[in-house]
Amino acid sequence: MLVLGIESSCDETAAALVEDGRRILSSVVASQVKIHSSFGGVVPELASREHIDNIVIVVDQCLTEASKKWSDLDAIAVTRGPGLVGALLVGLTYAKGLAFSLGLPFLGVNHLEGHIYSIFLDHPQAELPALSLVVSGGHTNLYLFEGPGHYELLAKTRDDAAGEAFDKLAKKLELGYPGGPVIDRLARLGNPEAIKFTLPKISDQSLDFSFSGLKTAALRYIESAGIAPVTPDALQEPEKLSPQLLDLVASYQNAAIAQLVDRLRKARELRSIRSIQISGGVSCNRQLRHVMTQVFEEEGCPVYFPRPALTTDNAAMIAAAAYHRLLAGSSDPWTLSADPNLALSVNRDQSLQ
Ligand code: KG4
Ligand code: ZN
Repeated sequence: MLVLGIESSCDETAAALVEDGRRILSSVVASQVKIHSSFGGVVPELASREHIDNIVIVVDQCLTEASKKWSDLDAIAVTRGPGLVGALLVGLTYAKGLAFSLGLPFLGVNHLEGHIYSIFLDHPQAELPALSLVVSGGHTNLYLFEGPGHYELLAKTRDDAAGEAFDKLAKKLELGYPGGPVIDRLARLGNPEAIKFTLPKISDQSLDFSFSGLKTAALRYIESAGIAPVTPDALQEPEKLSPQLLDLVASYQNAAIAQLVDRLRKARELRSIRSIQISGGVSCNRQLRHVMTQVFEEEGCPVYFPRPALTTDNAAMIAAAAYHRLLAGSSDPWTLSADPNLALSVNRDQSLQ
């Protein structure tokens, strides 16, 4: 079964052809990073316009790269939320028009479910039930994932998402946008134990995350230590950056990862699970992958990540998530609308209709 996936929820216009929910025949991602980077974050109106300009080209390229024709498609899947409403509408409207004209089933997919399924493209054997952590620029959500369509939200961030925490430190230090990849690189040159950032204390018994305290502590440290922003030239030779700055970046990343480990540990004590699955842009982080694998596999719990290219937004994950619904004979009506705040909940019918 050949599914065309389309993703346009934020600042990537993406299309992918995925066979039987697993085999990626092509995956095209047009990133808008350059357009938004001078603003230090995504500008919604600019994002929508870019999606309009790119979507036809991206989908055409996706078919060409896979040497497939419209008539080879069995279904069309598209992100319907959560995300920026204008950006979502571009993909959703285009996908609906395409599916209607080709007489194909059409499915609206939850972007977070897409991230969760990005793991199964390479690890179809990943054991369930699992603790599934989605760590991206917009979300830090921990689910108990029991099977297709069955997600229980165990914890979420009370303020910033983990990726946002990376982006905000990068913005303050003028390291560029998005901040995660550059912090990942610079952190390798610093001492992660140099600055002791404390874990946030959530007073009730919840497993929720919080990253705004870490950000505030880092900003205070930058001011008190007089750390200057980095110039683009200086970034070309990172090993020459001040040890104080490199230590800060390494310690900050270390503290963010320590919090994620802490919550996963606590969740493991509460729920009986067979694996840990970590997806979303931040799951590309090298230190995060290393620490999570070391900590939990030592305890006998396998840890799975998507391949690095599938951690950030892409359309292969959207096609993969839709495949399981197609197998169950499910699709969506033409009246389906975009939902910028779409939740992923226990009941498939509630979450995906
Ligand atoms: O999943 P994604 O592409 O978009 C959302 O759905 O939000 O994630 C983007 C986020 C950004 O905040 C970016 O800084 C972060 O993922 N990110 C990373 C790394 N690569 C991307 N964070 C830490 N380390 C990385 N290597
Ligand atoms: Zn995402």
